[in-house]
Amino acid sequence: MTGLGTRSVHDDVEEILLSHEQLQARVAELGRQLSADFDGRDPVLVSVLKGSIVFLADLMRSIDVPLSVDLMEVSSYGAGTESSGQVRIIKDLSSSIEGRHVIVVEDIIDTGLTLNYLLRYLHDKSPASITVCCLLDKPARRLAEIEIAYRGFTIPDRFVVGYGLDFDERFRNLPYVGVLRPAVYAGGPPEG
Ligand code: IMP
Ligand code: MG
Repeated sequence: MTGLGTRSVHDDVEEILLSHEQLQARVAELGRQLSADFDGRDPVLVSVLKGSIVFLADLMRSIDVPLSVDLMEVSSYGAGTESSGQVRIIKDLSSSIEGRHVIVVEDIIDTGLTLNYLLRYLHDKSPASITVCCLLDKPARRLAEIEIAYRGFTIPDRFVVGYGLDFDERFRNLPYVGVLRPAVYAGGPPEG
């Protein structure tokens, strides 16, 4: 490496778990299923910043029934990296979901604590229904039981980045889902 300009995010990736093509094909499939299942129901996709934005952008374009979109941002972790179940809402819904069919679009479900909190929060707003659609399911570390109606892929207990997912706010722009070289995690791989 001679300078910043020649450095690529791809250099830090040890292994590609899900290629761009695999992701595109599966997301298109999820979109087709959701289009069929939510035909005539005018769903609202509620997505959680920031990890879900890439999935949301691809998924919504593969759904061909009328829908609307809303965004929330939550912080799932306290001071450390371990999921605590302590969830803080940083950005709330912009519109009422009362009487609406809500599809929660999530990047990854790990312990499930973040989504567990969020689902209870959304329930209190009296939607007609709530359905979970997640791209990645990492069941190995699950602490809260979550009913996942639509899932892209089940993955092993490894810390993954790309396609929206970050390590320390980096690597969201990788077009695939991968695992980083150990050297990137100075001080050991993160917990969640
Ligand atoms: P949970 O509360 O443990 O289910 O954590 C969910 C959140 O933790 C996700 O929305 C991600 O932001 C983050 N997370 C969990 N596992 C990973 C991972 O493997 N890579 C990147 N972020 C992750
Ligand atoms: Mg994160």
